[in-house]
Formats: sequence, C-alpha cells, structure tokens
Amino acid sequence: MSRFEGKVAIVTGAGRGIGAATARLIASEGGRVAVCDVDQTLAQQTAAELAGNNGHPFVYDLSKPANCDELVADVLGQLGRVDVLVNSAGVCPRVAIEDMTEAVFDSIMNINLKSIFFLSRAAGNAMATNGWGRIVNLSSVGGRTGGVYRATVYAASKAGVISMTKAFARHFAAHGILVNSVAPGSVDTRMMHEGVTEEARQAQIEASPLNRLSAPEEQAEVVAFLASEANTYVTGATVDANGGALMPD
Ligand SMILES: NC(=O)c1ccc[n+]([C@@H]2O[C@H](COP(=O)([O-])OP(=O)(O)OC[C@H]3O[C@@H](n4cnc5c(N)ncnc54)[C@H](O)[C@@H]3O)[C@@H](O)[C@H]2O)c1
Repeated sequence: MSRFEGKVAIVTGAGRGIGAATARLIASEGGRVAVCDVDQTLAQQTAAELAGNNGHPFVYDLSKPANCDELVADVLGQLGRVDVLVNSAGVCPRVAIEDMTEAVFDSIMNINLKSIFFLSRAAGNAMATNGWGRIVNLSSVGGRTGGVYRATVYAASKAGVISMTKAFARHFAAHGILVNSVAPGSVDTRMMHEGVTEEARQAQIEASPLNRLSAPEEQAEVVAFLASEANTYVTGATVDANGGALMPD
C-alpha cells in the first residue's frame, strides 16, 4: 500500500513506542515523516531507520506552546507542507495521589494535553491552506476509566484529549480536516514498564479478554487508518484499541 504517498506527517513522541511504530508505518507507505521528540538521540535513530529516506528528525520539547508553533513552522520550512499530525508524545509518571506535587501535575498536563491544543491549532491552520488534513491524538483507556495504578493526573489529561478531539473536529471540519483519537489499553512500550510492578502489569493484561499487551504496531495500524484518505467520515471519535478491556456503550 502507499496510503501516504505525497503526504507530510508530523509524528510527535516518534523517538520510541507507539509514535515510532506510527512513523515507520507511514514512511513505509510513502509518507515523509517529521520525527519529533524531545530526545535528540531517539529522534535521530528513528528518523534514520525509516523506509525510503522518509525520516526527518526534529528535536523539540513540546511541553512549551512556543515550541509547538516553532515545530510546525520548521516542518513547513524544511518539508514544504503538513498533511497529517499524530500527537503521540506523552508521559505517565506513576505517582500516588498523596505524593503528587504541583510541578509533576503541571509537567503531565503540559505535554499530554497542552501540547495537543497548540500543535493542533498550528498544524490545522497549515492543513487548512490545502483543504485537507488529518489529526490523530493518543488518548488512553485511562481517559475513560479515571486510570489505574498511580495515574490519576495522567488519566485526567487523557480525558481532556478526548474532549479536545471533539472540539477540534468541529473547528476544522469545514477545511477538510478530520480529527480523531485512539484510546489504547496496555501497550508494550517503556511507559508500560517504567514504574509499574510486575503484579500491576499482570492485572492489566488479565483485564483484556485477549489476555496480552498490545504491540505498538497494532496501535499504529489504527492511527494510520484514521490519518489516511481511506478515512472520509470518522471525525471527533475516539477509537478504543484496548483488546476489549473496556467496552464503552
Ligand atoms: N504504553 C501504553 O500502555 C499506553 C496506553 C495508552 C495510551 N498511551 C499513550 O500513547 C502515547 C505514546 O506512548 P508510548 O507508550 O509510546 O510511550 P513512550 O514513553 O514509549 O514514548 C513517548 C515518547 O514521547 C516523548 N516525549 C515525552 N515528553 C516529550 C516532550 N516534552 N516533547 C516531545 N516529546 C516528548 C518521549 O521522549 C518518548 O519518545 C502517549 O501519549 C501515551 O500516553 C500509551
């Protein structure tokens, strides 16, 4: 397939995990990818690995709104256009409610939620000039449940992503831009291992009737459909890619 031939995609958090898997898939189908991450080494590694020399590293700390605007301007300058934005950058420090500080609270919200607002606005305005675009945000099953295992603030940020996805879907609809989110369950990336006990991980695995973690590539497939021309009528939706762990009405 070559679903992304001629397209330019910004993928945030593309240094590893779901973002990296999405960058690999889009590049393998002809898309040029702005591989954005706060970690320079990871951004460069992922970009270098992409098929067809389609990877271009961009190193930005997206928790700061000014950097979100600058990234979009930088991509327009270097790659000429923006067609797709995948917001995968995120953090999930495991902190009990009793131990949460204002600084940690803000650091979670700044990358998980605030960056999505400022990136969607800047990239959406660029897409609007072409009359076509796709934005896909990574939410989480925690955004629907309130979260498990020391992830209260994380879960609230991901509920915010679901809400913001709907608002941006309405805002950009007239410009041919569809905006959706994916709410993964437990995915086998660093986030699922760092600060998570074996017991807690096992409990999350058993919550899914499929009885296993998701590979990041399985999430990338869902993202890629929503980001492609094959998606013509889904907007403002959140796709629950959680292995059946939660089946909302
Ligand atoms: N892994 C899971 O089980 C899971 C479940 C549900 C949702 N998600 C969501 O999917 C997305 C991807 O998660 P993942 O599992 O691939 O995580 P990950 O930790 O493997 O990757 C996250 C990437 O984001 C980057 N990043 C962090 N802060 C950044 C910043 N300020 N600016 C730019 N980049 C930054 C990191 O450097 C890293 O490369 C996240 O939004 C996460 O919340 C993950």
